[in-house]
Amino acid sequence: MKITVIGSGNVGATAAQILANKELANDVYLVDILEGVAKGKALDMYESMPILQSDARIHGTSDYAETAGSDIIIITAGLARKPGMTRDDLLVKNAAIVSSCASQAIKYSPNAYFIVVSNPLDVMTYVTLKVTGLPKNKVIGMAGILDTARYRSFISMETGYSMRDIQAQLLGGHGDTMVPLPRFTTIAGIPVADLIPKEKLDKIVERAKNGGIEIVNYLQTGSAYYAPGTAAVEMAEAIVKDQKRVLPCTVYLDGEYGISDVCVGVPIKLGKNGIEEIIELKLNNEEKALFDDSANHVKKTIQQAMELIKEK
Ligand code: 2OP
Repeated sequence: MKITVIGSGNVGATAAQILANKELANDVYLVDILEGVAKGKALDMYESMPILQSDARIHGTSDYAETAGSDIIIITAGLARKPGMTRDDLLVKNAAIVSSCASQAIKYSPNAYFIVVSNPLDVMTYVTLKVTGLPKNKVIGMAGILDTARYRSFISMETGYSMRDIQAQLLGGHGDTMVPLPRFTTIAGIPVADLIPKEKLDKIVERAKNGGIEIVNYLQTGSAYYAPGTAAVEMAEAIVKDQKRVLPCTVYLDGEYGISDVCVGVPIKLGKNGIEEIIELKLNNEEKALFDDSANHVKKTIQQAMELIKEK
């Protein structure tokens, strides 16, 4: 198993460290245009492996040839948000960065599964799908796991119930229009609405929707990375171990939910064949309207991104 992480910033480095710690690959490649940063971080991580009791090897490089034959490629490259920015504000720069990284990576690893983490996430997943020309089961965006992890952690913080017992689903884009689904949220199988008063739950949902900017406002110089890096690894683990996990991920919709030609978040079954199933939840009218709104917003941003790429 060989896994490449493109981008040795905070998210990429966090993901690489956890991948190696969990021995999900024999070799983890950390790629960055800043070769020294990739090499330095990779070596530092490698030197932590005796302490962590892991035999994973971690390599830093700026040469895509070294990543040849990767089974999984995780794209984290690109700019992160600063205070006052939306994820969509990153579109112009990150569309160029992600399309360049994806086209170089696919040359050497034509059979890889791609996990996309760069923002605006849903759009960058679409860009990666188009640039690589891969079938739609092989390109998966990481957002729903992060957004539901935030939502689940806030429920645990507010109720004192174990993180382990809180399960949630979420639909839509990774942005202001994301759609957390309280009707599909349970605490050990008990509907969350039976345990948390509506007013309190509404506040938790709002906090989850703004979870990214809450961190940006604390950090001031960038955005979250521990939870995003960990979430990307959960997806890689599901593929490597063929776990058949049911996880909210950003995928290409081709008629599911009545939506086409857009990448957006939905629950999927994730295993050794990548996206093995797209699960269509029975939504009520309000949920469906919010989801449609979110998908329409992402679609417009996708059109802008594809025009930018064509101009280049
Ligand atoms: C977040 O939500 C970076 O978009 C990412 O923190």
